[in-house]
Amino acid sequence: MGVRSPRWPVRKPLPQARERGESGPARRFAAAAALSLCCHGVTHSNENAPDRIDTPLVATPGDAGRGQRIFAERDGGHCVLCHAAPGITQAGNIGPALHGVGARLSSAQIRLRIVDITRVNPGAVMPAFHRTTELNRVAPERKGQPILPAQQVEDLVAWLSSLK
Ligand code: HEC
Repeated sequence: MGVRSPRWPVRKPLPQARERGESGPARRFAAAAALSLCCHGVTHSNENAPDRIDTPLVATPGDAGRGQRIFAERDGGHCVLCHAAPGITQAGNIGPALHGVGARLSSAQIRLRIVDITRVNPGAVMPAFHRTTELNRVAPERKGQPILPAQQVEDLVAWLSSLK
């Protein structure tokens, strides 16, 4: 009945609704992280996205075996106080278990979470283990007194990244 509106066999595809690989929540998360960056007045110029640190803090590659020891040692990170992980017999549960963390997060994302987790969660109870300003411009060892030296952060990144 009446005039039939023309029918297209196939609807023209809409312009990409989403950027590839980035889900809505991930983008909101990134936006929140960016906001927290701005609000904390962190001014270091780095090429990295807000939720990760792409560039290793030191040139020497991290050593996963050493990383596991630092994770457990009281004098090291003492991460076991709060995190369970493979091969660790006694651990606290204040933080999430880190089994498979290397599959959930990239090395760059793990690095940022150890360096300064408040950049992704301003209310985090986890200490910022290597918070410095201008991270990429000044040798991190020379800025302030981070809880963990840069090499130990890299060792932890190497070990946690291996937990797939
Ligand atoms: C005081 C407790 C505490 C200590 C000590 C601690 N963490 Fe955490 N960690 C947390 C909590 C809680 C979270 C969840 C994020 C938050 O704080 O809201 C977390 C999150 C993480 C994450 C992100 C995990 C994920 O799946 O998103 C990594 C990686 C991590 N911690 C590594 C470490 C390492 C390595 C150390 C030692 C150098 C350490 N943590 C020490 C409490 C702790």
